[in-house]
Amino acid sequence: MIEIVPSILSADFARLADEIARVERGGARMLHLDVMDGHFVDNLTIGPPVVESIRKCTKSHLDVHLMIENPGKYVGDFAKAGANSISVHYEAARHLDGVLGLIRKGGAMAGVVLNPATPVAVLEDVLEVADYVLLMSVNPGFGGQKFIPYVLDKVRKLESLRREKKLAFQIEIDGGVHKENLAEVVRAGCDWIVTGSAIFHSPDPEATTREMREIAAHATAVQI
Ligand code: DX5
Ligand code: ZN
Repeated sequence: MIEIVPSILSADFARLADEIARVERGGARMLHLDVMDGHFVDNLTIGPPVVESIRKCTKSHLDVHLMIENPGKYVGDFAKAGANSISVHYEAARHLDGVLGLIRKGGAMAGVVLNPATPVAVLEDVLEVADYVLLMSVNPGFGGQKFIPYVLDKVRKLESLRREKKLAFQIEIDGGVHKENLAEVVRAGCDWIVTGSAIFHSPDPEATTREMREIAAHATAVQI
């Protein structure tokens, strides 16, 4: 099932409950929450208390993307705060297998994230213990950046690996996705499509969410 996953990084944080309600009216069933620590990336955002507050105002799936050093130290807190899925960067998790295990133990789906320059091949052996893989299509840290096209080849490689190994993990993409490149992203094999500025900086986030869901549903998931 293909999902459009609005990233609240580009929303108005002073009116977050309203912003969330708007995209949900447009059909969104998952929300992407970007956690940044000012070390792994040059930006600072939210921590577990904010996730806990968001949990109280929505029943949607909360997809937490940790762009932090030493993520293993915090995954339990984010699971307790109400995250449904938690992803950690391959580049930040020294003991990746252990951290994925901790996420699952906390009751959330466990995801691995790759920066644009990190090859898909590094994940080959860990794929069977991951519920999803997030491929960054911008360098992490900020919303509103330009999509990096070579990441589509990585999506296709990962999709082939999934078929070869008969695994069922979801493929997520994050960064620079908008109405114009959405169909191509779906056709490459993505299941969860994160999009921040294209939705929240549009004049009508509800209508844009609905429109993006329609574009995604009409694009056929074929290898190109
Ligand atoms: C970037 C974040 C993204 C960001 C995407 O580091 O991980 O989730 O919100 O924003 P857009 O869709 O504007 O590129
Ligand atoms: Zn993200």
